[in-house]
Amino acid sequence: MPRRVAFPLSQPLFAEPVFTQGRPTPDPTRFKTPIPSDTKLYDEIQRLLYEDVVGVPTSRDPPDALYQLEAVWGDHGPEVVEAARSAGRVVFHMVGDIGATTMSKYPDELRVSDALAWDCRTSPADDRPAFLYLLGDVVYDFGQAAYYYDEFYEPYRNYPGPILAIPGNHDSFVVPGTAPSDYPLVTFQRNFCSTAPVVTPEAGSLHRTAATQPGVYFALDAPFVRIIGLFSNALEDPGVISSEGGTWKSVPDTQLEFLSRQLARVRAENYRGALLLATHHPAFSYETADIAAGGTGGIHGCSPRMLADIDTVCHEYGIYPHAFLSGHAHNYQRYTRTVQLAERPFQVPFIVCGDGGHGIDRLVQASGGVTPPEPPDGADVSYLDSNPVVRASGLVLERHDDYDYGYLRVAVERSALRIEFHQVGKNVMPTRLADAVSVDLAEHRILAGSRSSSKGSRSTRDRRRVPRSERGSD
Ligand SMILES: [Fe+2]
Repeated sequence: MPRRVAFPLSQPLFAEPVFTQGRPTPDPTRFKTPIPSDTKLYDEIQRLLYEDVVGVPTSRDPPDALYQLEAVWGDHGPEVVEAARSAGRVVFHMVGDIGATTMSKYPDELRVSDALAWDCRTSPADDRPAFLYLLGDVVYDFGQAAYYYDEFYEPYRNYPGPILAIPGNHDSFVVPGTAPSDYPLVTFQRNFCSTAPVVTPEAGSLHRTAATQPGVYFALDAPFVRIIGLFSNALEDPGVISSEGGTWKSVPDTQLEFLSRQLARVRAENYRGALLLATHHPAFSYETADIAAGGTGGIHGCSPRMLADIDTVCHEYGIYPHAFLSGHAHNYQRYTRTVQLAERPFQVPFIVCGDGGHGIDRLVQASGGVTPPEPPDGADVSYLDSNPVVRASGLVLERHDDYDYGYLRVAVERSALRIEFHQVGKNVMPTRLADAVSVDLAEHRILAGSRSSSKGSRSTRDRRRVPRSERGSD
């Protein structure tokens, strides 16, 4: 059992953030707090999952503020930032949908968390990930404090770096009857948006201190990269970041102001680094052109109105992110969207990586006893972007994997960005590089050779492990 700690202790216990136990320890073999079946509860609240949005807690920082990687690392911050600058690159992990809710799924979550920790511990200093950025749905089913230990703290006890997060729908939906003090976003903020690096009750006897993000939406500034993370609210579908003109009366437009002020800052500074945008709900998730034939992006579909909100602000400033990262759909999908902004084409990877341990869903679902074929690599899916706010001239599903768990490994240098997808399969240990895309930052152009749909590229189902020496080659 996690040690029962009498709170409040004098806090913080440590003078600076703590991320790990130090010496790696074996994986747990069972949950400390059993998680009961939620089937009955889901049946009761099914309709609410598509109707009940939640309010958005205002960040404690002004909307144009940056949360610096240096601050994330505490006393080691200057050293970490200087190391990245000296190496000419910063590397980090991203993944969504990590929490396992049954003992049969727990090994899947642990394999991913172990692979991430292994990557940090075995990479040379100039290629070592500086943080993990969770793309939401950290704790299932509804972000209960009681499950943070088993679903987050213990699986990630060996990850030797900071872990930041935007909340997903499972970290924010309020089950009717929940006391306000137990609302999932209250618990999320206690563990990810703390004002000091304290040990929370959810961490039990582990040493990891709470992250000190300024809010559930925030702009992380690191060498060569800035990540704007938005909270896409509590619905199963779609993602919601604003009131959408009054449609969602309890959702403020705070995040539109935040995004606007951040892009204004990018423009005013003439910022030349990589600009990434992250939401839990994906803008694009595969749906067949003929819905009646079956197939809805691994259960979850697109969020066109959320994308329209984002596109509207981007259009106003003539700025577009270099890549858009999401989770929610429990698989890997990589799209290229081409938009015309300021009279020039921007090629933008839209990547879904919601396969961090909770489950894997197929892109196509059986209908009438027939399962439609999966889309091929390079499928033109422009029909998913049929009414864009910006001028869009194409959407291609470059690659997908709906069989394996995995994570993203992102490397950003002064002139280019590279996003890799690493599989963590049951028979592939520790990992296998399965896909990668590189983007020229100045040109917003995907670099030749990084599209994996070309002939001769490895199938995502080819389980041969790629040696580390092959990393970095497109
Ligand atoms: Fe989700």
